[in-house]
Amino acid sequence: MLITASAPGKVILFGEHAVVYGKPAIAVAVNKKAHLTIKERQDSKLKAHIKGLDINASLDLENIPTINHEFQRGILKYVLKSWEIIQEKQKTVPVKGLDIILNIEMPIGAGLGSSAAVTVATLSALNKYYKADLERDEIANLAYQVELKVQGAASPIDTTLSTYGGAIYLSTNRKAEKLPVKYELPLIIGHTPREGNTEELIRIVRKRMEKYPNSIKPIFESIEQVTMEAREALLEGDHEKLGELMNINHGLLDALGVSTPTLSRMIYQAREAGALGSKITGAGGGGSIIAYSPGKTDEVLQELGKLEKAFQIKLSEEGVTTNIQ
Ligand code: MEV
Repeated sequence: MLITASAPGKVILFGEHAVVYGKPAIAVAVNKKAHLTIKERQDSKLKAHIKGLDINASLDLENIPTINHEFQRGILKYVLKSWEIIQEKQKTVPVKGLDIILNIEMPIGAGLGSSAAVTVATLSALNKYYKADLERDEIANLAYQVELKVQGAASPIDTTLSTYGGAIYLSTNRKAEKLPVKYELPLIIGHTPREGNTEELIRIVRKRMEKYPNSIKPIFESIEQVTMEAREALLEGDHEKLGELMNINHGLLDALGVSTPTLSRMIYQAREAGALGSKITGAGGGGSIIAYSPGKTDEVLQELGKLEKAFQIKLSEEGVTTNIQ
């Protein structure tokens, strides 16, 4: 039996970091996906391979060492934690070995939700393999638990989008409202080879907040206002306002300490090339910027491409899909 699952990544348009403190955020699922295939093995080994990255890991499921094993590295942590969580749900399932092959279309650690896409795809494939009968909302919730356990802190936004697709507004009471976006959203990603480490960036912001609570809390509140106004602008198709709000959001993220000279250069270059707005997307500290550039896509792509890697993305209405052969 061969099971495959594919889940989209995402970009956060507004509200990253503040969302970890209960503030709203807007994000869209994108047409860059994580694809995962699982095959049963005859022994009790869990083996993983990430295509194109020469990353391999192996573990004996009957005797998992507590420290120093190959699944404790990078994105594979999410794969193992997903496996553990499904095991907790299905205590009676015998331990069988599996081959897991991952093909990740988006750059890892670039703020495009690779870890959530991998987690949702892993949980969805294992759900089918172990016949756990989990519904979509349970997958989304468990994926969020995986991110929380691996990262220490997270919002449910990435895992929600990887599960359901589309564009969402995550409100302060953690309800995901689907936003009908009826027009093209010409978004460009510029990304640096330096990975942003989400865990570390969340820690940096927390430290800054603990040191300067009276200065940092109002920044979260401003991000909340920007995000609420951006929701209206997105629904109305007010491109200029969307761009301006992105620029404001970026200034606030910079004040939280998550920008870098390379990210800043890309952000200003995109605006000079005609983007209506540009900002960090995701955790920052490396990773990616996003530029909103209706009518100026080629110009912005070309200018950003002179500095770093740049590519266009599209909104994906499709969430996670699974297939059994
Ligand atoms: C990471 O893509 C965005 C953060 O807000 C963390 C999260 O929401 O889980 C920094």
